[in-house]
Amino acid sequence: MPVHKPNLDPPFNVVRASHVEFGVTDLGRARAFYVDCLGLLATAQDPDALYLRGVEERNHHSIVLRRTHVPEIRALGFKLASEADLDRAAAWFTRRNLPVAFPDVPHQGRTLRTADGFGMPLEFYVQMDQVQSMLQRYAAHRGARIQRIDHINCFTPDVQASYDFYTEIGFRLTEYTETDEADARLWAVWLHRKGNVHDLAFTNGAGPRLHHIGLWTAGAADILHICDVMATSGWLSNMERGPGRHGISNAFFLYVRDPDGHRVELFTSDYLTVDPDLEPIRWSLRDPQRQTLWGHPAPKSWFEEGSPFAGVPLHEPALAAQPVVAR
Ligand SMILES: [Fe+2]
Repeated sequence: MPVHKPNLDPPFNVVRASHVEFGVTDLGRARAFYVDCLGLLATAQDPDALYLRGVEERNHHSIVLRRTHVPEIRALGFKLASEADLDRAAAWFTRRNLPVAFPDVPHQGRTLRTADGFGMPLEFYVQMDQVQSMLQRYAAHRGARIQRIDHINCFTPDVQASYDFYTEIGFRLTEYTETDEADARLWAVWLHRKGNVHDLAFTNGAGPRLHHIGLWTAGAADILHICDVMATSGWLSNMERGPGRHGISNAFFLYVRDPDGHRVELFTSDYLTVDPDLEPIRWSLRDPQRQTLWGHPAPKSWFEEGSPFAGVPLHEPALAAQPVVAR
């Protein structure tokens, strides 16, 4: 069986997906998109980086935009529960001969930089500079009134291998897609730590690459509002897919592309998954309603395009099967 029981006693305690670092080629243009249009708050800016957060976030940043020569993803960040967990994480990655370093990272406490078996750059830390929540400063809410980061979604060349790796360190399966033959194979998995559908998801494809990050909004009306904003402020062509509702996760969604092509999902209305005996939901790869419960079919770009990780080679997927697209 490709799916197994969760590891309820993991080697270290991941709290949640915390932040990402995007390499962008034009910080001014990226600021116009993320701050002026989407409404993220700029916590800090220097000549080489812009630090962003949602209105409820008290951590200094959930998105770092760093000036680079080419669009790329430089780090996927996860918060751990304690400094002891950080030491246990370093020992775990060392035992697997994966890279382990503790560089100085601005605005974060002790930070472990490592990578998974496919080279995806991971960052584990416990403490980040704390800033004021703007949740009840309603006059400061703009654009999609983004509340917080929710999840990270990646292409992997081997969903089973990525699933096995992350479930060993405590990520728990909530929903999955598999092929229909007798010897079923995993095509996509949704894995969580924080108690909703996902912190981290993987889909079969050339990888590793980032497919998108998911940013949480308080309601579907915020997502409809950002459609009106984007359509009338010069960002119409950056709207890639949606709005609509996913079968998987029940999320109301809109996918947009930033000026460098990095994909962002505005996302709301999934559900609680904290129960340790939660049975994951299986979807058939042939079921078009798994991607789109209703709404327009996803375009080809949504299935094929993603952001590379800096310096990490791509591998073709192990599984050739393709999904049935929405009606
Ligand atoms: Fe997503």
